[in-house]
Amino acid sequence: MRNLVENHIEEFSEILKYDKSEWDKIWKRLKKRFSPILDRIEEKLGRVSFEKIERRALDSFVQEFGNVMKAKKEKVAEKIRKNSDKFKLSAEDFVIFVAFAPFNIDWIVVKGKKENVIFFNAFSLWNKNELKNIDDAVYQAVVHFRHGDSEGNYYNKEKLFDGLTIQIKNLNNNDVRVFMKDICKLLFEKVPYYDWVGFYMLNNENLLELTEFVGEPTEHVKIPIGKGICGQAAERKITFVVQDVTRETNYLSCSPKVKSEIVVPMFKNGEVIGEIDIDSHYIAPFDERDTKFLEFIGNEVSKIWSVNLKEG
Ligand code: SME
Repeated sequence: MRNLVENHIEEFSEILKYDKSEWDKIWKRLKKRFSPILDRIEEKLGRVSFEKIERRALDSFVQEFGNVMKAKKEKVAEKIRKNSDKFKLSAEDFVIFVAFAPFNIDWIVVKGKKENVIFFNAFSLWNKNELKNIDDAVYQAVVHFRHGDSEGNYYNKEKLFDGLTIQIKNLNNNDVRVFMKDICKLLFEKVPYYDWVGFYMLNNENLLELTEFVGEPTEHVKIPIGKGICGQAAERKITFVVQDVTRETNYLSCSPKVKSEIVVPMFKNGEVIGEIDIDSHYIAPFDERDTKFLEFIGNEVSKIWSVNLKEG
């Protein structure tokens, strides 16, 4: 099995053996050694310099990196490999190159000698106090790379969802439809990989009826129980996470751009009353954090959903 995640921190930390005035010179040496990766990064970002970087910072970073990797070494590639088919790892068209550089971008894609190289800047992650989440951050970089993004910064989902939870608790919920619409807008705007957000609620014909949504209009405005991912989630009363919709046979396509979907049913007195549906243009972006967050939203909506569609 080839090395999907290459750890080059040790080679890069050679720099610490030299006086700071030499660092840019050592960078030049690294450029030759890892040609053409670092040159191509500079083609994209402009010339980089270590001038503003403190030895103390680099020292602490390298030390912490060692500690984190002791615990996380196996974990960094684990989740990516678990999704090997979804990320088409057999194509061997990319590698993750973990190193550091003096700029505040967590990862950037450049063409290497053979394959694409996701240069993962662990120092930038450390600067944000997120190095302990390197496994999550590397996974996220792959999700975004496969989507076609060429650089990006890590967003911590726990923090993102915690912030949104507070915002949702503060939304005005006097009118349930306005509340639902506001939630759709907030999620669509704030979660990078939520590309369609909507609520389907059971109507008096026992169909899941599109109620509020943000994103491209869909032809699926009334969905029978059991049909599509939405219908199945309602039928089985469980959350459906489809990380790659091309592998799902019982699926109603809204747009060819959609690559994955999560549907979370909402309950009142144990009965399904509707569901929240999220489409994403990214492959395999969801995990238990999405489920937990969306279940919280489901509860908030269900608490005030009394003017249901059955009564018009
Ligand atoms: N894909 C869904 C249909 C609804 S749209 O995603 C908005 C399904 O398979 O049920």
